[in-house]
Amino acid sequence: MEVILAEHAGFCFGVRRAVDTVYEQIEKKKEDGRSIYTFGPIIHNEEVVRDLQERGVKVISSLADAEAISEAERGTVIIRSHGVERRVCESLKDLGFEVVDATCPFVKRIHTTVEKESEAGKSIVIVGNAGHPEVEGIRGWSCRSVYIIESVEEAEEFACKEGEKLCIVSQTTFNYKKFQDVVEILNKKGYNGSVVNTVCNATEVRQAEARELAARVDVMIVIGGNHSSNTRKLYEICRQECRMTYYIQTLGDLHLQLPETVRLVGITAGASTPNNIIEEVQNYVRINF
Ligand code: F3S
Repeated sequence: MEVILAEHAGFCFGVRRAVDTVYEQIEKKKEDGRSIYTFGPIIHNEEVVRDLQERGVKVISSLADAEAISEAERGTVIIRSHGVERRVCESLKDLGFEVVDATCPFVKRIHTTVEKESEAGKSIVIVGNAGHPEVEGIRGWSCRSVYIIESVEEAEEFACKEGEKLCIVSQTTFNYKKFQDVVEILNKKGYNGSVVNTVCNATEVRQAEARELAARVDVMIVIGGNHSSNTRKLYEICRQECRMTYYIQTLGDLHLQLPETVRLVGITAGASTPNNIIEEVQNYVRINF
């Protein structure tokens, strides 16, 4: 029996890079014993966050948290892949922290665009979810007005000042089709603006690959947290293609009884599933069937 692991199973490039950065910092700091913090949980995965906690990494959620730390304890703060506002980085440095920036380069590119375009006189439109940390971070790189549009309905209602120049960007995880719809509505309204497509295709690639794999295999295993909406979506996509699709959180949930006829098993995983869990499942299936 053959087991095929989807190439883009689990962490996207930016999240993997951020998680790796934390482990690198843990190694680096072993000698000097300085404290390590992440600004917000590095990833929405309890096991990873717990593992990091056990290795002494603490989570701070705000500048107020950072200020409350005694000067002697102010070590390194790692910025996660979502990125943060410019003032957060500056304030952390002013407080005496060393800042290690693990912002995903695709998000960083949005920060740079927003900074440059707002300095050139444009107001910024972010197509994305207000309140999402990535959107809040992007907002914080503009020196001019920022508008956030979450839906086509909001785009229909949108109005800015006469003659105001706009630069439109999107949250990286925003649906590309919806982004296009919003841009089209704004264009129809005749706004004077430039559009920078900053949607990241990591999710789409993972889903397309899962669909293609599920269509080829006899059994499909999807690994990810119970509350992970992107894993549920992966499961639904795979289930449409392969009737024998299993949704598991860890190896412990896998109670496979495979018919003799099964030749090909496919495995994929949601965006916040760590590699070791994927490997465990993959090895188990390889060895036991
Ligand atoms: Fe991941 Fe970076 Fe895209 S964090 S989803 S690779 S923007």
